[in-house]
Amino acid sequence: MAEKVYTDYFFDKKAFDDQDGAYIPLKTADAPEKKLLVPPLLKPDKETETDLYYTVTAQAGETQILPGEKTKTWGYNNSILGQTIVYPAGKHIHVTLQNHLPELTTFHWHGLIVTGPYIDGGCHAPVYPGESKQIDFTLDQPAATTWLHAHPCPSTAEQVWHGLATMVLVTNRETDDLPLPNNYGVDDIPLVLQDRHFHENNQLDYRADYNPDGVTGPTPLINGTVNPYFDVITQQLRLRILDGANRREWRLHLSDDLEFTQIAGDSSLLPKPVKLTKLMLTCAERAEIVIDFKDYHEGDVVTLYTDDTPLVKFRIHKFSEDDAVIPDKLFDVKAPKVESDTPIRKVVMSGMDEGVAIDGKKFQMQRIDATQPVGKAQYWDVVNSNDPEHGMVHPFHMHGTEFLVISRNGHEPYPNEHGFKDTVGVNPGETVRILVRFDLPGLYMYHCHIIEHEDGGMMAQIQAFEPNKPMPKYKLMDMDTLMNAFAEERGIKPEDLWMAGMDSYEKCGMKM
Ligand code: C2O
Ligand code: CU
Ligand code: CU
Repeated sequence: MAEKVYTDYFFDKKAFDDQDGAYIPLKTADAPEKKLLVPPLLKPDKETETDLYYTVTAQAGETQILPGEKTKTWGYNNSILGQTIVYPAGKHIHVTLQNHLPELTTFHWHGLIVTGPYIDGGCHAPVYPGESKQIDFTLDQPAATTWLHAHPCPSTAEQVWHGLATMVLVTNRETDDLPLPNNYGVDDIPLVLQDRHFHENNQLDYRADYNPDGVTGPTPLINGTVNPYFDVITQQLRLRILDGANRREWRLHLSDDLEFTQIAGDSSLLPKPVKLTKLMLTCAERAEIVIDFKDYHEGDVVTLYTDDTPLVKFRIHKFSEDDAVIPDKLFDVKAPKVESDTPIRKVVMSGMDEGVAIDGKKFQMQRIDATQPVGKAQYWDVVNSNDPEHGMVHPFHMHGTEFLVISRNGHEPYPNEHGFKDTVGVNPGETVRILVRFDLPGLYMYHCHIIEHEDGGMMAQIQAFEPNKPMPKYKLMDMDTLMNAFAEERGIKPEDLWMAGMDSYEKCGMKM
């Protein structure tokens, strides 16, 4: 029997972001084609049998993105985005987090199962300008494409817009030997999809572009490259794709409607590969796909598009024949256990623009919104209460866990969301049921990953606690501690610590 090939985006067409007034359509930049930037792998400072040491530096720099003036950008160990970090599960990882930026930032490990609120790098874990911090952890999770991005309250969106996002690959011995392309930079490459608006002299101006429903720009930026091409020298190519945009969805397809195979989602491989011709990603979601160029020859070009806009041109060179077949079974999903009395929690994402909220409330750093015992699964019914005709897709993300998508409005999830995920697009008017278990006690944020919605308060936090043990008390940030006390100590004005200006501090619960 011929395998099924899926040829639609699964999502409600009418919820696509181009239906919304704030949407800026993409336009191919007036710039020559340029070799796709493939970020180098970050070298460890030190490695032993059991331990691995890294230094990750948030820094400001300049990047030649467009012809003419360089663009002022931010990155991790790089002028834009970053170097790609590899964390093998089971090793004891030590990271020095250095902040060389002029303002405070945090280092959030999106998709790593590490404890919050300090190690996972949400808003309670500031690293002040000129300072550094040490963290360490050991990962016990499947191989996955995750990422690092800034997460300071309420400046996450602006810092990511400036470039603070990079890929973090988790490897795991359980699946490292599968016959999948894994030669980084050659047949296994990251693709960070973003869009930007370049103003005068090729500079970014987040304030000028601000939109409470998410900032978009007309120019596609792939790994920080405009109009990129990639030289293909192998028959099979694995792409690790991240929607790293503040608000844009990507509707990906290849020229000639070339079929490709999705092998992984956000937080693990898929149980079985899925053949597709179209793939939609909402903000912060990841997909790993394998393209087989067997029907192409030296000199051909295969283009990756979103809608009608080309994103990357794959220039085909001579390659040797490769008959490796993607295995039918990739990953054994160990589903969290459910019982007849597994609780169902309801979480409602509501509103648009400045009106966004979770369960009718705006985020407050000092408020713990929910609790759940460690090790016990719960269903979360995540509701997008937007009007199905005019609402937006809200990508729902959780820290500190990876979940399974159980159903969408009571129906089967999409065929490509059967692995573990940490972010799931919820259509307007839809309820997505996910199965959530926390394995590490801690305090974790959950929120819409349209980053302006998150900064705008569509965010909450949950404490995962160990039953039969006293509830630990976390030192939660408030704006006064975060800003004023620090500034006072150093004899500087608090507003100099932040580009965002005092007006937006209220969003994180500061009483002015
Ligand atoms: Cu991508 Cu709260 O994070
Ligand atoms: Cu996250
Ligand atoms: Cu949202």
